[in-house]
Amino acid sequence: MRDGEEMTRRQILGIGGALGVMAVTGLSAAAALSRRPAATGAELRSAVPLPRPFQVPLPIPSVLAPVGRTGGADRYAITQREVTAEILPGVRTRLWTYGGTFPGPTIESRRGRPVTVTHRNELPVPTVVHLHGGRTPAASDGYPTDLVVPEGWHRAGPGARGDGARGDGAHGGHGMPGHGMDMGAGMSAHDPRAVTTEVTRDYTFPLDQRPALLWYHDHRMDFTAPAIWRGLAGLHIVRDDAEDALGLPSGPRELPLMIADRAFAEDGSLDYPSLDPALRDRPGVREPYAAGVLGDVILVNGAPWPVHEVDAARYRLRVLNGSNARHYELAFEDAGDGRSYDFLQIGADQGLLAGPVTHRSLPVAPAERYDLVVDFSRMPVGTLVRLVNRLGSGRTRDVMAFRVARKAADTSRVPRVLSTDLPAWRREDAVRVRDFAFRAGRTGDGGTHGWLIGGRAFDPTRTDVTVRHGDTEVWRLVADVHHPVHLHLSGFRILSRGGEAPLPHDAGLKDTISLRPGESAEILTRFDAYRGRYLFHCHNAEHEDMGMMANLEVI
Ligand code: C2O
Ligand code: CU
Ligand code: CU
Repeated sequence: MRDGEEMTRRQILGIGGALGVMAVTGLSAAAALSRRPAATGAELRSAVPLPRPFQVPLPIPSVLAPVGRTGGADRYAITQREVTAEILPGVRTRLWTYGGTFPGPTIESRRGRPVTVTHRNELPVPTVVHLHGGRTPAASDGYPTDLVVPEGWHRAGPGARGDGARGDGAHGGHGMPGHGMDMGAGMSAHDPRAVTTEVTRDYTFPLDQRPALLWYHDHRMDFTAPAIWRGLAGLHIVRDDAEDALGLPSGPRELPLMIADRAFAEDGSLDYPSLDPALRDRPGVREPYAAGVLGDVILVNGAPWPVHEVDAARYRLRVLNGSNARHYELAFEDAGDGRSYDFLQIGADQGLLAGPVTHRSLPVAPAERYDLVVDFSRMPVGTLVRLVNRLGSGRTRDVMAFRVARKAADTSRVPRVLSTDLPAWRREDAVRVRDFAFRAGRTGDGGTHGWLIGGRAFDPTRTDVTVRHGDTEVWRLVADVHHPVHLHLSGFRILSRGGEAPLPHDAGLKDTISLRPGESAEILTRFDAYRGRYLFHCHNAEHEDMGMMANLEVI
């Protein structure tokens, strides 16, 4: 199973078209690994003129005010709606948003203080909200068929496409999982366990978990990738007293950075190669993009290649790769002499590390979060520091820039011990070892190509893995191309990569692991949170939509 040759042959036999191109670049898994192909996916080219970098200021998503605070819980309300925004200067772009902005509003919360968010769906299609990284009961975890259907929605069957009319006797039912399997994607069936609601839904998050940068995003079955691309993503930060007491850079010196690539069509809309641009019936993307959709514009917090003025002081940067498929290798470079500055990593997906780790560059896969501290006091006032992606080229090599504007006092610190509450799981505690292969393959009889876990495409009616509550397990994961693998509900530790010690940036508690081409890894986790139906999947959002997702039942 782990043999590189075998993997490559399956890749070549099992896939065609664009995936064939990828197979060619990955003829030998070992060669692929040594060359580290920068991308799994194909890049869309924008058809509008793109702005020069470092002209627009970095936006900071606004923090959402609660609509109520009762009985130790905070209540929020978010309306999902379509808006027109100016992302590129002078270009008007239709977006699907949480609350009218992209990124959506940030929710700030305290560890152990429950939050209920009432989402109202005013978009033209069903939606599902998932809090990525949340330790959330199954009913609020955003299972892909737990749809919130908009007013007037009915499933458009054959011959009933696209009108969305209400009260049609023949198609009047609401809330069937809205994907047209009769149309050839061949990935799933009606899900009897789905709990759909009309127009609104309350999602309740206990947030009984380590402080961390989480994010919420759409998770509708078969259509997650285009929905996120259109703007359905926002940040959610969990804090606690212990973290506050550390003295890390804070206030205006703590910056959330949601990095995401996009492409723009001639009319200013976001370009995306959907087979069904209405995102109603037919899932999937045009063949050349089946390995992942990349854009040629890099947005940070929704702005193209922004610039941010900083004090000559330490800053805490809370980085999320919110891209569908693009990987980054981040580095801080002096725009003058090109030299790079090292920086500290203080946290991973699921919160603070035991202690800081120094990096000169840092790979960041889709959905991963990294908590960084950069010391701008080491740079002369006036320096322009570029945050670059060493995997990018041309315009996509730049991400954003910081201009060191002024000298300033700095009382922040980065203690050598950051946290002492990381789980103490050991490999010896594992009661089971499971193997999962993340690979391209064919689904259904039509031979539609897709992305598979253990040779199977996602089916909401099939339980793939049953675990016992409280059990500790080791999972061995192996990949053909890049697959950022995400586990809902439970954070994990990375035990090994390619049979060796994990990489320096693998430290801490994770919920997403970046598997590189041909790579295997072992993760260790304990299922001690909630019982119920959860997921694990590839977070290349196109792979996810094309089958690379599986059910996990905690009993
Ligand atoms: Cu970020 Cu299942 O998702
Ligand atoms: Cu998740
Ligand atoms: Cu993948």
